[in-house]
Amino acid sequence: MTSEDKREKKKNESPSTGPLFPDLRPSIEKKVRRYKRVQQAIWTENKARFIQRYLQFFVQVTKHGAYIDGFAGPQYFDKPDAWAAALVLQSEPKWLRHFFLCEVTKRGIAALRKLVKAQPEPRDKKGRILNRTIEIWPGDFHVNVDKILTEGRITQKEATFCLLDQRTFECHWATLKKLAGYRKPPNNKIELLYFLGVGWLHRAISGIRNSDKLSNWWGRPDWRDLKLKNSWDIAEIVRKRFQDELGYRFSAAYPIYDKNKGNKVMYYMIHASDHDEAPALMVRAHHKAVRALPPEVQRRFTFQGQ
Ligand SMILES: C[S@@+](CC[C@H](N)C(=O)[O-])C[C@H]1O[C@@H](n2cnc3c(N)ncnc32)[C@H](O)[C@@H]1O
Repeated sequence: MTSEDKREKKKNESPSTGPLFPDLRPSIEKKVRRYKRVQQAIWTENKARFIQRYLQFFVQVTKHGAYIDGFAGPQYFDKPDAWAAALVLQSEPKWLRHFFLCEVTKRGIAALRKLVKAQPEPRDKKGRILNRTIEIWPGDFHVNVDKILTEGRITQKEATFCLLDQRTFECHWATLKKLAGYRKPPNNKIELLYFLGVGWLHRAISGIRNSDKLSNWWGRPDWRDLKLKNSWDIAEIVRKRFQDELGYRFSAAYPIYDKNKGNKVMYYMIHASDHDEAPALMVRAHHKAVRALPPEVQRRFTFQGQ
């Protein structure tokens, strides 16, 4: 065990914080510890690594699953290592079975097609072929989500993670409601990771002429009040809405910094899940990534749930 691992172990055992993985079986805890640390701050290329790492933890628990990427085209066409869909597809073990990659632009769709074509046949450690389907859904995710959710493609029992890496106002609140409402109790809801762009939010709200765009994004008429609130308060409002309005048991907001802009918080990733183990796994993935930040920005994030 390295001295860093020892320090971390000690911290996890501290009576004030309790164990980081109270619910995990020892075998899973061991596997989780083996993953390598993210080396840079969480921003652009790092955010994709962070998502990949979280999904590695996710499949260790679920052993299967579906992945929906509502806004799947690459943000940077020249940086394939920063592309969430690419990293999740290549991630090991390849236990996620069903992929739904949604994208509206021609260029993004072409990049997805190329990516999917380049995928090797998924195999386990012993070389046995694994079941996996990868579907590209060209067009508006807000329309396609209905087809993905209503044509029996994703069963009520299949563990499902949905990435919503949207720019500022692209993702409609109504779509979040559809995703959150798809599963019927006692099944866990589809897990969501939603990107809330706060770095330029105030400017973007002031600059927008078409108020329908804001209403669709926010899903309520009070979006005008956001101009008076700071970024953290807005993230907290959104985080709470995932619990209060969408009905998730757990939700948390994780900051993503831009080191080129004085370590300013540019996004919050809002993570919402019903799964008991999900928050601990997310904390673990985030903790590893945050450790790479300069000490002055390594402030504690909050996790809140029922
Ligand atoms: C921020 S980028 C996604 C970045 C990507 N997750 C990555 O890791 O690089 C958002 C993508 O969503 C696409 N998009 C925007 N509105 C959309 C919609 N209504 N339906 C589907 N895709 C959409 C954009 O064309 C863009 O490719």
